[in-house]
Amino acid sequence: MLYTTAAALDFERQDLPALPQPAKVLLTTPDHFDVQYVINPHMEGHIGDIDHAQARKQWEAVKDAYAQLDLNIAVMAGAEGLLDMVFCANQTLPSIDPATGQKDVILSRMHAPERSPEVAHYAAYFEAAGYTVHALYDDPHTFEGMGDALWHAGRRLLWGGYGFRTDAAAYEPISDTLDVPIVLLRLDDPDFYHLDTCLSILDESTALIYPGAFDDEGLRMLSALFDTLIKADEQEARDLFAVNAHCPDGQHVLIQDGCTHTIEALRNAGFTPVPLDTSEFLKAGGSVFCMKLMYW
Ligand code: ARG
Repeated sequence: MLYTTAAALDFERQDLPALPQPAKVLLTTPDHFDVQYVINPHMEGHIGDIDHAQARKQWEAVKDAYAQLDLNIAVMAGAEGLLDMVFCANQTLPSIDPATGQKDVILSRMHAPERSPEVAHYAAYFEAAGYTVHALYDDPHTFEGMGDALWHAGRRLLWGGYGFRTDAAAYEPISDTLDVPIVLLRLDDPDFYHLDTCLSILDESTALIYPGAFDDEGLRMLSALFDTLIKADEQEARDLFAVNAHCPDGQHVLIQDGCTHTIEALRNAGFTPVPLDTSEFLKAGGSVFCMKLMYW
């Protein structure tokens, strides 16, 4: 079932099946990370501008931050020629059905041809991990995994962003395959080209958002299903990817360093911000959330 208006929502969050917090985190090494093409506005002006030693250090610090939180870390080696492969949230959407233990993964069909070959690496990974692998898309449909499709924390519900990388029609086969309701959110501003740049789900009742990236109906649906929406400052969201933050445990929020207002707002709401510098990755249009993939 797909939902596109708040009036159509015919369930309460509490009615949905519980979803266990994923305990595994996949990271892909930045060995071949670079900016050599422009597929989002943040990459403009950054061709050839990556400090590779710095990128490696920043990536290691992100990895250490997850290790500190006692998550089970897996590392995939980045492949030569795949400059954006380090952003491992985008190639797949993993799923678990807690009722049966069945694990599925939906493969992305990347919008940019430069990124298409990344998907096969993740398909092989999940096949080896015992997941049922689904390739659902042909022309013209594109889908960018957990860049645009986000699990609600603790509930079997998906939030689906569309407009730039993923088209709305891509969600119908996901809803059917995984038997899960999906709330669709239209993205309007090219700086916020993936849902994970403007919505970060912190726990079952709380999300961090940048409201300017959504239309009124989207904001109504977010308000209907979260008790608290923490609003990120525009400059921090746009320039520092404040909302590309990640809360893996309902408490700690890994977030780009320097997002002063957002960090304070998170603290005031009872969360524990963990500032990290991902400045080399911001040049490619990504930060913490898209540098990892959570799975079961
Ligand atoms: N250069 C990559 C792209 O434009 C960055 C992806 C960042 N991922 C994200 N989920 N925001 O595809």
